[in-house]
Amino acid sequence: KHHFLLVGFLGFCLNSFVRGQKNNTLICTKENTIRNCSCSADIHDCDYNLANLMCSCKTILPYTIDRASYHSDLTIWFTDTTVLGMLLNFTVVHYLKLSLCGSTPLPREYLAILGLRKLQINSVVMGQFLEQNLTIYNSGDNEMRDKLKVLHKDRQMFLYISVLDTSLFNRYSLLKSYSVENVSSITDHFPSLPYSDIFSTTTNKSYVVTFIY
Ligand SMILES: *[C@@H]1O[C@H](CO)[C@@H](O)[C@H](O)[C@H]1NC(C)=O
Ligand SMILES: *[C@@H]1O[C@H](CO)[C@@H](O)[C@H](O)[C@H]1NC(C)=O
Ligand SMILES: *[C@@H]1O[C@H](CO)[C@@H](O)[C@H](O)[C@H]1NC(C)=O
Ligand SMILES: *[C@@H]1O[C@H](CO)[C@@H](O)[C@H](O)[C@H]1NC(C)=O
Ligand SMILES: *[C@@H]1O[C@H](CO)[C@@H](O)[C@H](O)[C@H]1NC(C)=O
Ligand SMILES: *[C@@H]1O[C@H](CO)[C@@H](O)[C@H](O)[C@H]1NC(C)=O
Repeated sequence: KHHFLLVGFLGFCLNSFVRGQKNNTLICTKENTIRNCSCSADIHDCDYNLANLMCSCKTILPYTIDRASYHSDLTIWFTDTTVLGMLLNFTVVHYLKLSLCGSTPLPREYLAILGLRKLQINSVVMGQFLEQNLTIYNSGDNEMRDKLKVLHKDRQMFLYISVLDTSLFNRYSLLKSYSVENVSSITDHFPSLPYSDIFSTTTNKSYVVTFIY
């Protein structure tokens, strides 16, 4: 009997150990160089040398980037919005941390992120370090649970669409957001969104559109 307890206990320890070891994905970009890293430690923002030293990284070429899905934490260090757009636009990311490692001002561009739950924004504005968090929805929210079931089926069914204004990095001000729920047609609701037509082919769905600015 004791034997089983011991095995159970060891199994538990091993489990927590393995879970504790779970690596984070860090994508560091600098101009046109993109490195995709798997890190077991937290690396101080924008310390490219340390990331190369501490993480397991590989270089990826801009034209080989696929629309990936990130179900665990994703951190992106970026210097310009073009590369950020290539990595993030219309990508599924649940937990995202964005650190600006270049200089402002950034142009105003809009990025669509699918299924975003939590966002952390780090930047340095006028010599001041600014860290801000935003929760769009919690996976544990009861009312959201049914929606989430649909959400995981396939990409087309994604109900949460966040639109991020990249010029928010230019200001030393609070991160703001507002959500519009029960949007059945993005084209009808937001005709001036530059890419609303991308969603117009899908019918019968109700979206939650969140603007982050
Ligand atoms: C986790 O990160 C470490 C470096 O921080 C690396 O050596 C290891 O290969 C990574 N593991 C996985 C599964 O990517
Ligand atoms: C980065 O690497 C992760 C695995 O560590 C992978 O899931 C993801 O698709 C890669 N992203 C890109 C843009 O290559
Ligand atoms: C994201 O994609 C849309 C549609 O293709 C495009 O209009 C927009 O400029 C892109 N944004 C960025 C930052 O790349
Ligand atoms: C933002 O969230 C991260 C991770 O959840 C946490 O470590 C950090 O302290 C938070 N920062 C602020 C300013 O709330
Ligand atoms: C969602 O929109 C539909 C059609 O516009 C409407 O019938 C329904 O009551 C709305 N539901 C909620 C929860 O607002
Ligand atoms: C849309 O909803 C209607 C009524 O709920 C249903 O009859 C129809 O098959 C649905 N269409 C699609 C493409 O799911």
